[in-house]
Amino acid sequence: MFQHTPKVEFVRSVWRRATVPVFLCVIALQSGAASPQSEPIPPATVTLRQAAAVRKINIGAAAASPYLTDADYATILRTEFSQLQAENEMKFGVIHPRSDADPNPYDFRGADALVSFAQSHNMVVRGHTLVWHNQVSSWVKEGKYSAPQLAKILHDHIETVMRRYASKVYAWDVVNEAFNDDGTMRHTIWFDQPGIIAGAGTQYIEQVFRWAHEADPSAKLFYNDYDAEEMNKKSDAIYAMAKDFKKRGVPLDGIGFQAHVSLKFDDPAKLASFAANLERFAKLGLELHITELDIRLIDSNPASLTAQAKLYGEVTTLCVQQPACKLVQTWGFTDKHSWIPGFYKGQGWALLWDDKYQKKPAYEAVHDALAK
Ligand code: G3I
Repeated sequence: MFQHTPKVEFVRSVWRRATVPVFLCVIALQSGAASPQSEPIPPATVTLRQAAAVRKINIGAAAASPYLTDADYATILRTEFSQLQAENEMKFGVIHPRSDADPNPYDFRGADALVSFAQSHNMVVRGHTLVWHNQVSSWVKEGKYSAPQLAKILHDHIETVMRRYASKVYAWDVVNEAFNDDGTMRHTIWFDQPGIIAGAGTQYIEQVFRWAHEADPSAKLFYNDYDAEEMNKKSDAIYAMAKDFKKRGVPLDGIGFQAHVSLKFDDPAKLASFAANLERFAKLGLELHITELDIRLIDSNPASLTAQAKLYGEVTTLCVQQPACKLVQTWGFTDKHSWIPGFYKGQGWALLWDDKYQKKPAYEAVHDALAK
């Protein structure tokens, strides 16, 4: 319903939404030849990635290799996005499914396919994720390893995966979701069950950032979490860790804010809190990424889609207005493939394209926010 023909779309996209920077970009994309016609030559459609490029930020999407054979999926991914991130295929359980005693412990097929696709289409790749409590291989969880054995397993894993993708993956979510909502450390196999290092607090996180930096010194290293967008106990704990790491030279380059939200997030106080939170992390000298943005709905009525579009625009604008924010990435891009309906029963419709690959109002809102 929101997909227009290319011709209609280009007229609308330029004359309705283009402002000076994007208009200049569009002009720059045209051949410089003067037209003998009196009517202006219509400029090409400006994609999200073109609009984001003018802002000098990336627009990304989480993706899955099995869908790359779907022509609609692949076309949107390569034309609209400048960055790709594996939704699942670089996680421990997928990429390292068998024990190191096995002659073939790793399975790089999915990750390699995504990296290859990205390289073919001039997209950058963000890695996700090296250390997470979820999607850990059963051989690790059930192996009854001691702390030193577990540390060796994780160290080897980080080295193997990061070295394979060195110079191909520019940034990694080194550690994902290590804190509880109340700011305490999450009890995980890597932290304390049995954990990889004797000692409390964020010591194991520091250790894995140091291993990651050794494995690929050129990669940007991120800590990534959900429900840490606003100023709250979790973001305070991440901030305290980040401040400590920066002070002591631990190689932390940035923070990822997942931003899995509902329409409740469209609240001036919440959005102002998100902006203030971004600002305090920026003042530490960190790069900021919005890494997993989606806005779930309880129905797909026009009013809900309009409200969703407004919030997508507002979140994108927060990034655009914060100089340290260099990425807006959505968690998937089509409602055909989204984790939301499987996790939040009765909810969905969270992304920029619907399940038939038609652009939703949210697409226009993100585009407008990048272009204005
Ligand atoms: O690939 C298998 C398939 O072979 C099997 O038949 C099927 C049966 O359940 O499962 C498939 O694996 C599923 C996988 O997604 C791929 O679709 C897993 O069960 C399922 O648990 C997994 O869910 C992923 C989830 O992380 C795991 O916790 C979601 O796709 C993924 O979107 C989600 O992503 C996380 C981020 O990594 C971190 N932040 C939160 C975000 C949402 O939960």
